[in-house]
Order: sequence, then structure tokens, then C-alpha cells
Amino acid sequence: MFDTLTVKSKFNDYTVEFVDNINKIFEQIEQENYMVFMDANIDRLYPLLRNKNNIIVICTENMKNLQGANIIFNALIEKKCNVNTKLIVIGGGILQDMVGFCASTYYRGINYISIPTTLLSQVDSCIGGKTGLNFKNKKNIIGTFHPPKNIIICQDFLKTLISLDFYNGMGEIYKFHILQNKIKSFSIHGNIKDMIYDGLKYKIDIISRDEFDKGERRFLNFGHTFGHALESSSNYIIPHGIGVVIGSIISIIISKKLEYEIDNYDDIINIGTELIKNSGIKFKKKWFDFDKLIQIVKNDKKSNGKLIMVLINNGPIIEVVENLYDVKESIKEIYEIIEKL
Ligand SMILES: NC(=O)c1ccc[n+]([C@@H]2O[C@H](COP(=O)([O-])OP(=O)(O)OC[C@H]3O[C@@H](n4cnc5c(N)ncnc54)[C@H](O)[C@@H]3O)[C@@H](O)[C@H]2O)c1
Repeated sequence: MFDTLTVKSKFNDYTVEFVDNINKIFEQIEQENYMVFMDANIDRLYPLLRNKNNIIVICTENMKNLQGANIIFNALIEKKCNVNTKLIVIGGGILQDMVGFCASTYYRGINYISIPTTLLSQVDSCIGGKTGLNFKNKKNIIGTFHPPKNIIICQDFLKTLISLDFYNGMGEIYKFHILQNKIKSFSIHGNIKDMIYDGLKYKIDIISRDEFDKGERRFLNFGHTFGHALESSSNYIIPHGIGVVIGSIISIIISKKLEYEIDNYDDIINIGTELIKNSGIKFKKKWFDFDKLIQIVKNDKKSNGKLIMVLINNGPIIEVVENLYDVKESIKEIYEIIEKL
């Protein structure tokens, strides 16, 4: 097993602990005044975690909004949760974002423990303290910073992931490899535990210097500008991690058109293409409509009406992209690649 990791935070430092067996999860948690929110698929697949007091939440991107938050707030009130109640979240990034948001606002902030169960949530979304809800087709437009008190990772959960969710998580690992200029060492057959540990260490390093997304943490948004837009344009049939892969390829193609310095361009395209193919998604041309995507991107919370992207020029850079012709061509190129898969 891996050593516990510590995340430094302006709120409170918190730890990421690793347990090797699902039975041991609750051994790590003080069993007093707590309430469990559990993803409906975890409830279905892991009967040993069932408890009549658990609140079961069906987790979809279309419920990660005020309607979903309403369900959580109602449960908190019905169960008479107070300022000292500790929430335990057992699920993927969607449940974490929703319950994290509610925990940050209920009684102006109560504690929660995160038990991420998907690859994406174990390697990425469990740390950093961002919570988020979608609103009117705008991704994560409502949100707060509210880190958990503690994170417990058990990789046994990953055994039951469907293939799409495995490749979805791989999407964020792919992004970390590009940002660290080590795409050559990426393999979908690599040791998943090591990839999670390395991904977490990389993200912890960045957020320890920039917790609130003012500087270098914004590099972690690589692939997200068009990734988020594609999630929206496909009505979330393209999940977050696969959106990030496609968005990363769009960024790389634009960087190349701008004649920026990129190592291992072909590997980045080929590996990304393999992940997209393995996702098994049946892509539709209308999701890649340039005008629609640009409209979504310019409405994004981080855009200020401009097209702001993380590109690669001898490492990540943040740039306002003015040449929309290059962007249009890059989207066309990635769609042509996807069409042939
Ligand atoms: N807050 C952040 O910093 C941050 C970072 C990255 C992504 N996100 C958000 O995370 C979300 C995506 O997270 P996700 O990919 O974990 O999606 P998710 O939570 O929807 O989980 C994906 C699917 O896997 C199922 N599932 C969960 N655990 C399982 C298991 N062990 N076995 C079988 N099925 C399981 C879920 O029920 C769901 O159907 C997006 O909304 C994205 O915006 C947040």
C-alpha cells in the first residue's frame, strides 16, 4: 500500500489514505453523528456497504444541478443534520461535486469525508476542494472551494467500473502525462495504482502553490475548454474525461498550427485517439458543430467572452486564441479522425 499523502490547504490540511480492502473503509472513520451519501451504482454493486440510513443518489450529469442539490439538502434537513454532522460521500466525481457543494453551504459549511469510487475521482476530482453544479447547460458554473476533511481511496472499487468509465478516468491521466511532458511513459496497460498515486502527487504539488486557480493550477484545465463544450453539446453523452481527451487533441492541433514547440506530437494524437476509440461512444457530427461549440465556450465561466485556452509551447501556456479559422480547422481534423474509428 502507498504512504498517506497530505494536501496543504488554506482551509485545513487534509490527507489521502489508501486502504486495500473495502471492508476496512469504515474502520478509518469515527462513527459518530455522520451521514452517508452513496452513488446508486455503489449501493447496487456493494451490498456490504448497505445501511438503512444511507441516502442513495442516482448520479448523472443531468442531476448535478440545483435539482440534485435540492435532494441532498432535503435529506440533510429530514435527518436533522446539524453543524457537527459529518457527511461521507461514496461515489464518483458527480456525487463528490454535488455533496461537496451542499456541505460547503449547509450551515455555512460542514465537514465531509470523500471515498472516491471511479478512476477519474480517485486520480483527480477527490483533491483540490472544488465543488460544482451545472446550471442551464453551463458546466460547473455554480461552485465553491470546500476540501474534504479526509479522503480514503480503495482501488478495489475500480474492478466494477464499466469500460467507458475506465477510459474516462484514463482521460485525466493522459492529460497529466501531456502536461508533464511524459506521454511516452503512458500506457493503458500500465499499473493503475501507480498512475493514481503519481497523478495525485502531481496535482497536490500544483495546488499546494495555487489552491484557488489564480496561476499554475489553470494549466490543469488543459483540454477542458472544448472538453466542457463537447460534454454540453452531446448532452453529456461524452463524459468529462473523454471530453478532456478530445479537448486536449484540439489544443495540441491548434498549438501545432501556431508552430509552437511540442514534443511527441504524434504520440499525443495516437494515444488520445486510442482512448476515444476504446470509450465505445457513438459520436455524432452535430456535436462538433463549430458555431455551437464556440458559443458554449464563450459563455463559459472562465472565458470573459474570449476564447482562452491552455496550449502547449515547450510546456503549458495560457493564451487568448484570436485565430478562429485555426480552431475551426482543428475541430474539423479531430472529427475526421473520430469519424474513421
Ligand atoms: N471537482 C473537481 O475538481 C473535478 C475534477 C474533475 C472532474 N470533476 C467532475 O467529475 C464528474 C465526473 O466524475 P466521474 O467520471 O467519476 O463520473 P460519475 O460520478 O458519474 O461516475 C461515472 C459512473 O460510474 C458509476 N460508478 C461509480 N463508482 C463505480 C464503481 N466503483 N463501479 C461501477 N460503477 C461506478 C456511477 O454511478 C456513474 O454511472 C464530472 O461532473 C466532472 O465535472 C470534478
